Amino acid sequence: MSAIKKDIGIGPCRLILGDMCDVLPSLQPRAKLCLSDVPYRLTAGGKSHALGGILGGDAYDNSGELFDMVEWADMAPLIYDALADDADAIIMTSDREEGAARAAFDAAGFDFHRLLVWDKITATPNRWYMPNCEFGLYLYKGQARRINDCSSKALIRCPQQDVSHLYLSADVPPDQRRPHATEKPVALMAHWMGNSTAPGDLVIDPFMGSGSTIVAAARTGRMAIGIEKNPKWFDVACARVAEAVQNPQPVWSGFDAGTPLQEVLAL
Ligand SMILES: C[S@@+](CC[C@H](N)C(=O)[O-])C[C@H]1O[C@@H](n2cnc3c(N)ncnc32)[C@H](O)[C@@H]1O
Repeated sequence: MSAIKKDIGIGPCRLILGDMCDVLPSLQPRAKLCLSDVPYRLTAGGKSHALGGILGGDAYDNSGELFDMVEWADMAPLIYDALADDADAIIMTSDREEGAARAAFDAAGFDFHRLLVWDKITATPNRWYMPNCEFGLYLYKGQARRINDCSSKALIRCPQQDVSHLYLSADVPPDQRRPHATEKPVALMAHWMGNSTAPGDLVIDPFMGSGSTIVAAARTGRMAIGIEKNPKWFDVACARVAEAVQNPQPVWSGFDAGTPLQEVLAL
């Protein structure tokens, strides 16, 4: 059976339903950037039976596996081979997974530029400081290339504005139309993509989810290939990318580490 279960072209984007482990090795042409929010474990530590509510041991799911997992050591060489000779990768991770991720991408042949920080503004409840940041391992393959806007900071604030649930089909009952659990802001993806590529370059996201990276590519004139295993989120990604191609709109790019919260949220 073919590794590719669906293959849909929408404007400059190609969306593939399938398992990245099967699809990525045969993908052509090779990309200038892999920008991906990969499925890593989301554990926060042990369970407490002294606490109640969502932090209590009975309610707290600490398995860490929101999605199907692909181990760092399995995904890193596949991503390396899918990239052009001189290319960048920005791989999202958490503080707890950063060490393992970096070791695997290093072993695959990537060089490390910097840890990028996304200040999400809102925090998740936790007993050992509430996390309000996610991280991007900013890596390169071959020759290092400077970013397009060298005034860009490693830490940027960007509000989370989930929209993927709006694209779920009418078959899904309204009370179950929740956003993708780890949907990323299109503006954040567009910012990182805009710095590592030129218009017309090819970007890949092998863990596309609801398609935020591919929407960012469509809105900023990049070509993109997205791969997603889950048919529900593949369909949502197709709908979001189709809308982005049909109704071009500028992407917000007002990042500033010092912008007051109210001002950012009012955008
Ligand atoms: C962290 S989420 C990405 C969310 C995305 N950034 C968004 O804005 O919606 C990772 C996605 O990878 C998908 N996934 C997990 N294993 C996969 C695999 N082997 N091949 C392709 N997709 C996979 C999951 O179904 C999930 O939707």
